[in-house]
Amino acid sequence: MKILIKNGRVVDPTQKLDAVTDILIENGKIKKLGQGLTLADCETFDAAGLVVTPGLIDVHTHMREPGLEAKEDIISGTKAAAAGGVTTVACMPNTKPVIDTSIVISGIKQRAAADGYAHVEVIGAISKGERGEELAEMGDMAQKGVMAFSDDGHYVKSSRLFTLAAKYVTTFDKPLICHAIDPELGAEGYMHEGAVSARIGVPGVPSVAEDIAVARDCLIAEYTGAHVHIAHVASKGAIEIVRQAKKRGVNITSEVTVHHLTLTDEACIKYNPAARVSPPLRSKEHVEALRAAVLDGTVDAIVTDHAPHAPEEKDVEFRYAPCGFCGLETSLAVILTDLYYTKIFDLNTIISKMSCEPAKLFKINGGTLKEGSIADITIMDLNKEWTVDSSKFYTRGKATPYEGKVCKGKAVATLLAGEFVMRDGVLCTK
Ligand code: DOR
Repeated sequence: MKILIKNGRVVDPTQKLDAVTDILIENGKIKKLGQGLTLADCETFDAAGLVVTPGLIDVHTHMREPGLEAKEDIISGTKAAAAGGVTTVACMPNTKPVIDTSIVISGIKQRAAADGYAHVEVIGAISKGERGEELAEMGDMAQKGVMAFSDDGHYVKSSRLFTLAAKYVTTFDKPLICHAIDPELGAEGYMHEGAVSARIGVPGVPSVAEDIAVARDCLIAEYTGAHVHIAHVASKGAIEIVRQAKKRGVNITSEVTVHHLTLTDEACIKYNPAARVSPPLRSKEHVEALRAAVLDGTVDAIVTDHAPHAPEEKDVEFRYAPCGFCGLETSLAVILTDLYYTKIFDLNTIISKMSCEPAKLFKINGGTLKEGSIADITIMDLNKEWTVDSSKFYTRGKATPYEGKVCKGKAVATLLAGEFVMRDGVLCTK
């Protein structure tokens, strides 16, 4: 199988490349980059006027399988990924049962490889059942190729257990991903604590609940030497703690979500359940601090925290709505609309943080268009104007605070290991 992508503007930060050039794909790999490539017996895709980048890699998603298929499964979730231009997703272990044994990991990998529309990396739990009491079979899961470990959705409250996990992972070189909210300080809140929560009468989660948790985990990373990755940083204080730890040479990395970069707690004003997330959407000063942290390298990856819920679970009163909403089909467009077209991030930064850097950080195959690498590719039309309409989403969890948003920019084709999985917004039959 050979495909020639012609005349696209190829943006690949791993090669410091931003130029109009052709890409020849053969047997699932990038065979050659160069201008004026021609080949008789191959399919040609005309990418004139489009941008061609390494496939987007989202290291924080919830595929909800096994056990929570009313919210999502690997097929619907990876379809959403392909539709959004995402070629690799990492799935969190807060499923039913929790992904805390190697057999569950093998099952997910097999299903994704057979029927998925994107590559799926698996994140195993740190503690059994994510209960924070005893370590899960981490060594066994490491042998089955988990990408990292996390009790996402919960903070590992016990410093002793988190330290034990950190010491353990240094023996097999896998990161710990921390969901950083002190559960006691955050227990009574439904949104960010601040002027907006006071105005609308909803109890808040103070940002210090996040800062304390991040500080402890930075100190444990420093003490053990383990790689600790802070998930969905949302507060100004927390990102400053990460910045200082990085300066001291601590093995710490961080990610920020598309929504924490583009929305504030004002999105909760009308008690919109779609805007309820953990950590909560915070105020403008926090958003600005996160944007600055992307630009100065404190933030390593931009993620979705794609967290779909069944419509009947999510479409309830604000306080009763579970945290999270779907993000895979809007992430690129929202970033382009709100941060690229406003000149806050350039394209190089966006592709680095949404593909190249996460690939490097978590040793994921992809994130580059170098010759010889896997042909996971996103083709985007930066000028395409469209309106977010969740009824057209592939994900099962339709709730999104971006409903009705007019966007500029969209993925128009996605290639997975050299094969089109999405073209013109429509998934290709498998
Ligand atoms: O909003 C969220 N939803 N944040 C999380 O960390 C977990 C997620 C979920 O699993 O629904």
